Amino acid sequence: MARMWFWLSLALASLSAQAAPIVKRNPYTFVLDNPYGDAIFQLGEIAYLANTKYPKAVIAADCQTVTSAIPITVIKTNASSITKDTLTSVIDSYLSADDVFNHDFLDGLYISSAVKTSLDATAVEYLTSLNTTFVFADSTVSVEGSFTTIALESPAEVPIGPYLAHVESGTVSFSTVYRLYPDTYRTFLFGAYDANDGEDNHNPLGTFLPKFWDPMIPVPSRVYSWGDERPLAGERVAIKDLYDVKGLQTSGGSQAWAYITPVSNGTAPSVQKILDLGGIVVGKQKLAQFASGANPWEWQDEHYPFNPRGDGWLTCSASSSGGGCSVAAYDWLDYAIGSDTGSSMRRPAAVSGTYGQRPSQGLMSLERVLPLGGATDTAGVFSRDPYKWIKFSKAWYSPDLYQDSSITGLSPLEVPDTDAFPKTILYPVDYLPLNNSAAEPILQEFIASMSRIFNMTVKELNFTATVQNFSDPIASNFTTLSAATGVINTWSAWEVIGKPLITAWGALFDGRFPPIDPARRPGWKAFNETRTNQVAYDAALVTKNRGVEWYEKELQYSTPESCSESIMLYDIGTGGLPSFRERELNESPDASYLAVLPKTAKITGANICPIFGCADFTVPIGQVPYQSNITFHEEMVPVTINLVVKRGCDFMLYNMIERLADEGVLKTVKTGRTAF
Ligand SMILES: *[C@@H]1O[C@H](CO)[C@@H](O)[C@H](O)[C@H]1NC(C)=O
Ligand SMILES: *[C@@H]1O[C@H](CO)[C@@H](O)[C@H](O)[C@H]1NC(C)=O
Ligand SMILES: *[C@@H]1O[C@H](CO)[C@@H](O)[C@H](O)[C@H]1NC(C)=O
Ligand SMILES: *[C@@H]1O[C@H](CO)[C@@H](O)[C@H](O)[C@H]1NC(C)=O
Ligand SMILES: *[C@@H]1O[C@H](CO)[C@@H](O)[C@H](O)[C@H]1NC(C)=O
Ligand SMILES: *[C@@H]1O[C@H](CO)[C@@H](O)[C@H](O)[C@H]1NC(C)=O
Ligand SMILES: *[C@@H]1O[C@H](CO)[C@@H](O)[C@H](O)[C@H]1NC(C)=O
Ligand SMILES: *[C@@H]1O[C@H](CO)[C@@H](O)[C@H](O)[C@H]1NC(C)=O
Ligand SMILES: *[C@@H]1O[C@H](CO)[C@@H](O)[C@H](O)[C@H]1NC(C)=O
Ligand SMILES: *[C@@H]1O[C@H](CO)[C@@H](O)[C@H](O)[C@H]1NC(C)=O
Repeated sequence: MARMWFWLSLALASLSAQAAPIVKRNPYTFVLDNPYGDAIFQLGEIAYLANTKYPKAVIAADCQTVTSAIPITVIKTNASSITKDTLTSVIDSYLSADDVFNHDFLDGLYISSAVKTSLDATAVEYLTSLNTTFVFADSTVSVEGSFTTIALESPAEVPIGPYLAHVESGTVSFSTVYRLYPDTYRTFLFGAYDANDGEDNHNPLGTFLPKFWDPMIPVPSRVYSWGDERPLAGERVAIKDLYDVKGLQTSGGSQAWAYITPVSNGTAPSVQKILDLGGIVVGKQKLAQFASGANPWEWQDEHYPFNPRGDGWLTCSASSSGGGCSVAAYDWLDYAIGSDTGSSMRRPAAVSGTYGQRPSQGLMSLERVLPLGGATDTAGVFSRDPYKWIKFSKAWYSPDLYQDSSITGLSPLEVPDTDAFPKTILYPVDYLPLNNSAAEPILQEFIASMSRIFNMTVKELNFTATVQNFSDPIASNFTTLSAATGVINTWSAWEVIGKPLITAWGALFDGRFPPIDPARRPGWKAFNETRTNQVAYDAALVTKNRGVEWYEKELQYSTPESCSESIMLYDIGTGGLPSFRERELNESPDASYLAVLPKTAKITGANICPIFGCADFTVPIGQVPYQSNITFHEEMVPVTINLVVKRGCDFMLYNMIERLADEGVLKTVKTGRTAF
């Protein structure tokens, strides 16, 4: 498969955000056509993509002129007379809410109106001062001025905002424009955009910024979605490269897998749902290969992404590494979709100081998603803003996409959107306090706020002892429960990925084993189907269900007053210590590895919900300083906490989080070096 590195002569485009009040307009500079026939161009220092192959609209017009591309702005107004003020107020509103539109798109203007109207003298003078060359107008709009006026024979049904227009042989076309941002933290594999080809394809954007080795990510104007009432209208969403998107390669982070599999000919229902809700897919992101828990130094096929927090050398964790770190990094990105089997949403959220969840088992279809463990995999979303996170989640996790009991091995999901909040905060003494004593007061303050707001009682418990006390030999035995999860987490990936990959690669390359990262190589080399097979998998589902049923009877259960009688807290991160991408740095007493098993526990906190099916959300609550051995400067590391409730109580937990945000206890985190 051809890979393309295109040369773009641009400086760090993100530094020059919006044009200041009317300065000299930057002219259109063509850069190249991409292989899909779409145009990459620049206006000044900023690079854009225009979907010229499949424009948003092509309208007949009364014109002889043929012109090359014109950056234009589409305005809709019903003002009976269009004045300078009409125009400036619209332009100012675009400027204040959008990072794609700027004055450079005023070479042309398309004014659409449902009522008869005209440009008055102040408007004409204003456009003349802008050197606007072309004015396109509906038949209802009369225009006289020193510019070329082109009357459209019918109104162009395009959303307002910036476009690239072409005028040729009696037609005007309006092409959607995307601003290209450099992925400076290298969290993406590649950018992507809607092909608009009528076949629901997305095109990859094989464009690269050589000065800093960054892939370029296309984001459409935010103005396009104004007036679109759908819950995710215009929200820019990045996708972990496990999910199929029609027209894009799914690699699972493996070039060997990409080599033997075709470009996706369909879109995962979970991603289709996002598109149906109005979301915009902007690219595919890096992950620990095949959703493993690989440490940064174990990545071979992909280069490990960078975390914007602290000294820039902190881990992004795994496996949804690109997702968490990108949401912590870029204001131009709203959400990233990841998945969680053993910690892969929750831990990346913890180390990037963002919101990220492992939903209840079965809440989201994983059809057309590369599996790790079919009955332990879950889908989640990263966000900086608790309200936006809740809005996305409540719209996305819809009953039509719940998984069937035949997949989860568990009872059918019921997910009430309820304020039947917990009465008890469980503080497990085998998992808490936080490792860094400077971080624990932040947690204590959070607990105090939560118990005040919801009138809850804090109860200490020994989680390990409580489970071991279940009067069921299977549900109380961590060895048995962990072994079942182990079977679930290896069989699906082997059956769907490992075995076909090894077979296909061997056939192609004279019996050779495929080049894959060490996280999977030994396990797949020695895979023993006599031990791990469909029968063992089915038995593991039965064991898992037994654990879940006992958990929901004895530990986190429903009462008439509460969806989940308790909310349990623990930390999936490092307890406020930095953890680094460079292995040796984690040996110091002031740093920590990830996934450390607490001294008296039998399983890591991360494994509680994969075993017991519960909902487990990571939320950022503060930050603590450390002295960096990278910048040799004081830096901040995020402090997060995990909130665990009974399976099916996700929406109750969102309602609690909303309340905590209303009270100022939970906040929107910033992008960049510090979360707060
Ligand atoms: C319009 O053109 C004049 C003459 O070339 C130039 O001085 C002025 O800066 C231009 N204005 C804009 C908004 O580009
Ligand atoms: C203009 O009027 C039409 C017809 O009443 C309406 O559909 C449209 O939303 C209005 N547009 C604006 C910008 O007010
Ligand atoms: C999509 O691809 C799969 C194999 O990769 C094939 O079995 C299926 O028929 C294709 N579907 C369509 C609609 O082309
Ligand atoms: C929790 O209970 C287990 C099992 O009884 C015990 O081994 C462990 O020491 C306890 N942990 C704490 C922190 O009390
Ligand atoms: C708070 O909870 C306690 C029981 O834990 C109850 O007695 C008390 O009435 C509650 N207070 C409020 C204000 O609801
Ligand atoms: C174990 O169960 C017994 C009987 O239900 C109960 O009395 C005891 O408190 C439990 N112990 C723990 C540590 O949960
Ligand atoms: C748990 O199960 C394992 C494996 O079946 C068994 O060896 C062990 O004795 C059990 N532990 C307890 C405490 O029953
Ligand atoms: C595979 O597992 C079976 C059952 O546990 C065992 O008897 C056999 O020795 C294993 N084979 C290899 C090659 O390890
Ligand atoms: C930085 O290095 C010093 C000296 O090796 C060590 O004592 C300290 O713990 C390190 N700091 C961090 C945050 O790892
Ligand atoms: C706490 O930090 C220390 C020092 O790095 C480490 O040895 C220990 O494993 C950590 N404990 C947990 C539970 O993370």
